[in-house]
Amino acid sequence: MAAVLAMGISVPRHVLPLHELARARNVDPAKYRLGLGCKEMAVVAPGEDTVTLAAEATLSLLQNAPEYEPSKIGLLVVGTESGVDRAKPVAIWVHNLLGLSASCEVFDVKHACFGGTAALRMASLWADANPGRLALVVASDIARYPLNSPGEPTQGAGAVALLLGSCGRGEEVFTLSKRVGMYAAQVDDFWQPAYLKEAVVRGHYSISCYIESLKRSLEDYGEEPGNDPDFLVFHCPFPKMVKKAHAAMLEFLGKSYDVSEDFRRRVEPTLWVNERVGNAYTASVFLSLCGLIEALGGSLIGRTVGVFSYGSGSCAEYAVYTFGNGVKTSLDIKRRLDSREVINATQYERMRAECEALEQNGSYKGNVTNLGRFTFMGIQEHRRVYCGNNLRPE
Ligand code: HMG
Repeated sequence: MAAVLAMGISVPRHVLPLHELARARNVDPAKYRLGLGCKEMAVVAPGEDTVTLAAEATLSLLQNAPEYEPSKIGLLVVGTESGVDRAKPVAIWVHNLLGLSASCEVFDVKHACFGGTAALRMASLWADANPGRLALVVASDIARYPLNSPGEPTQGAGAVALLLGSCGRGEEVFTLSKRVGMYAAQVDDFWQPAYLKEAVVRGHYSISCYIESLKRSLEDYGEEPGNDPDFLVFHCPFPKMVKKAHAAMLEFLGKSYDVSEDFRRRVEPTLWVNERVGNAYTASVFLSLCGLIEALGGSLIGRTVGVFSYGSGSCAEYAVYTFGNGVKTSLDIKRRLDSREVINATQYERMRAECEALEQNGSYKGNVTNLGRFTFMGIQEHRRVYCGNNLRPE
């Protein structure tokens, strides 16, 4: 049976503490910290985009797991809603930057924040059908709302890479249950028109769509045979949403637990990365999963986590994953978060404008100095220019 064998993450190298944004927007900082549950927002700088974040997460994965041979990767799927081209997938850039084998199916999947989960489930089926080969899934996104909008403090960015293959050695990070609860409904809660740079969102309505999808997915999943999952991960657009979702789940399932105590025990250990990164759309649910793994490590072996993934628009799934021995490998998340450069609101707005300028044709000047391992250099004759330490000659 296929399983996730290794993971890697990446986050942008700059971070804006939300009390700085609150000051700039003349908002009580308690609204962001307590009302939304957010502490920090990851900010992309010129040179970073959805591709470089995805490539960095993949390289981290391959370095974390040298026992898996990259030439065996026969499927590469990126789940994203902040792709850089309407035809060309982020996945083909990642494939090139990492120098992966040409004998590989390479494409993106999209359904808002659900795209990474959809890719994971598809890759798991593919890995089952192709024993001996490996599948790579990357969820990578940059969340952007208009300046000064209610969604602005929930922005963020990041990527998580997951390697799948047949397991048998007990070294997997987790296995996915075959049983899934699903729910899809056409709703206009959040979307990104192709002619706009930022998302359009009906914020409070989107919260009710999320909760409705959670209930319908649980209904579709049906009664849990045996015990409740040991932990719960919910798609995290902002941590307070997860608190609302957890309370709604207990009520819907008719559980008479102490809500705060259950939240503290089963949900809180999953949220510390999201609090410090913000919404990373497709990657958010996996950042929570990585946070749980990093927090509890080897004590998770044999334990289960219920995972709810929601993508606006909408599609959702509830499934249960079971952890294996692979949870003992550290993803080095805390060091990555602590080593980011702290910026203020003025620098954040300047970086945002510079990133937009780099997205224009003719922006390539060869002078972007980004200290990451992969850099987006700009656009020349409508072609995106990347450099990276694993770049294969064309
Ligand atoms: P808002 O309308 O400005 O905020 O934006 P609010 O007035 O609703 O306040 C938020 C919370 O802060 C409230 O708590 C207030 O009481 C509290 P709640 O009632 O919810 O428990 N508050 C304070 N607390 C302490 N001190 C204070 C204070 N003032 C207020 N002084 C909104 C909130 C979430 C609507 C906005 O941030 C937004 O539009 N976000 C983007 C949309 C979003 O994240 N939706 C989530 C569900 S949809 C989803 O998850 C999919 C998504 O990830 C996209 C995808 O699928 O691709 C978004």
